Amino acid sequence: MDLWKCDVCGYVCEAIQAPAVCIKCGVGSEHFQKLNEVQSQLLYDSERTNDQHIKIIALAAELIEAAKIGIEENLDPGCKKVFEIVIKDAWEIKQLAKAELAGHQKKGKF
Ligand SMILES: [Fe+2]
Repeated sequence: MDLWKCDVCGYVCEAIQAPAVCIKCGVGSEHFQKLNEVQSQLLYDSERTNDQHIKIIALAAELIEAAKIGIEENLDPGCKKVFEIVIKDAWEIKQLAKAELAGHQKKGKF
């Protein structure tokens, strides 16, 4: 099984030969490039780390939602201040993880 990457949208699939149609963007098989062994290994090796970054983004989003609920409840100024810090810090964490994933994409690790 080889890895094939669509040169239009970047979708990657495992297949024996290039798919007839890209399931993501609809272009034909002529737009699929077979990844070589080094490129394929890089992609597989990065899969676990990419999944961790995606999980961190999701957890940070949950933190932001929880803090927003806390702010809405408006119990006291001390609580509100903590929730505001959580929102700011969780947003920064999300941006860090997104930037790392964007870097992985540029390096063919996604
Ligand atoms: Fe595509």
